[in-house]
Amino acid sequence: MILKSITLKNFRNYRSETLTFHERFNVIAGDNAQGKTNLLEAINLLCTFRPFKQVKMEELILFGEEEGRIKGEIESESGLNEVHIVLRKGGKTLKLNGKVVYNTTKFTGKFNIVTFLPSDLEIIKGTIQDRRKYIDAVISNIIPEHLRDLKLYFRALTQRNALLTHQTQVSKESIEVWNETIAEIGGRITRRRIKFIKKIEPEIKEAYRQISGLETDIQIRYKTSFTPSVGFEEDIKRELELRFSHDRKYGHTSVGPHRDQIDFAIDGKIASVFASQGEAKTLVLALKTSEIKLLTQILKRTPILILDDIASELDYKRRSFLFHLLREFNGQIFITTTVPKEILYKGEKKVFFIEAGKVQPAVLRYSPVY
Ligand SMILES: Nc1ncnc2c1ncn2[C@@H]1O[C@H](COP(=O)(O)OP(=O)(O)OP(=O)(O)O)[C@@H](O)[C@H]1O
Ligand SMILES: [Mg+2]
Repeated sequence: MILKSITLKNFRNYRSETLTFHERFNVIAGDNAQGKTNLLEAINLLCTFRPFKQVKMEELILFGEEEGRIKGEIESESGLNEVHIVLRKGGKTLKLNGKVVYNTTKFTGKFNIVTFLPSDLEIIKGTIQDRRKYIDAVISNIIPEHLRDLKLYFRALTQRNALLTHQTQVSKESIEVWNETIAEIGGRITRRRIKFIKKIEPEIKEAYRQISGLETDIQIRYKTSFTPSVGFEEDIKRELELRFSHDRKYGHTSVGPHRDQIDFAIDGKIASVFASQGEAKTLVLALKTSEIKLLTQILKRTPILILDDIASELDYKRRSFLFHLLREFNGQIFITTTVPKEILYKGEKKVFFIEAGKVQPAVLRYSPVY
């Protein structure tokens, strides 16, 4: 898939800009705080209907304005698609080829993006929740029902927790219906996660070896919040019933995929605790490389790649691996930099210079050296 062009109206620090992209390699260059990350965020929103992280709508709209817009043309196997997003204080709306999309979860997974963001280090060094979120986001890209299940699951969980907290006389029977839902959907979520980890783990091991040049052993450890025996659905249901008194006492649900643990281990050591910055970055690169490979294999289409501020964060060896990787990748790439000469990309590319939310005329350049 290829993002042909984008038009921003009152989005972040952009008043009104249209950019026409290169189908392979786009460099977004500029000094700090000019709008490079904002542009990538707009691209991500346009293709996935999701911002990089949870934000209030007004943060996305140019200060002092009521409404922001992002429009773009995306070429995919289904042809040329026009996507139009309107951002208002109350929420955001999506139009695909002129028609309003009411069920936006259906839109998720239609266009795929893989991002390398500075905040991705959190996947390794952050909390278990960060890792659960990451794994769920990748699975949702491949299997859109996963996102729908997560929404239903958390709705049921909120209901069960509300009953546990607010009803002094809550009986086992009254939360039975929520136990059923949590067990049924929770089982599906757990199964998909474990299946996905099994699939991606060998890829990550291999990618880590390639990037670091070391024979390091990488593992992803998944530990369920219940003891697996007959089947996830039955197991969750059984433990929900068993822990009813405990859950009532603490006012929350202590079993289910929202409590499962995911950890990376580097040579047997838990990465969130022991990984150095360099090891964590290498692991993120390995993870993303594997994500691209899986997406391409399973969906039979190449995702768009977004890299924010990544080159400057890496030492020479890792940076050369990254550009080697980008040369082999045959999809569209967007990469930001404050130092364009750090972009060691041989081949045709388009460089956009951003200054205070405005795009300077694009220059088509051929890089003679690699
Ligand atoms: N809603 C908004 N309205 C106006 N300006 C905004 C809004 N949201 C963010 N900004 C501003 O946009 C500017 C550019 O932000 P951005 O993160 O895109 O910079 P950048 O070019 O990626 O910089 P860096 O190289 O430091 O990462 C920031 O100064 C930020 O305060
Ligand atoms: Mg930035």
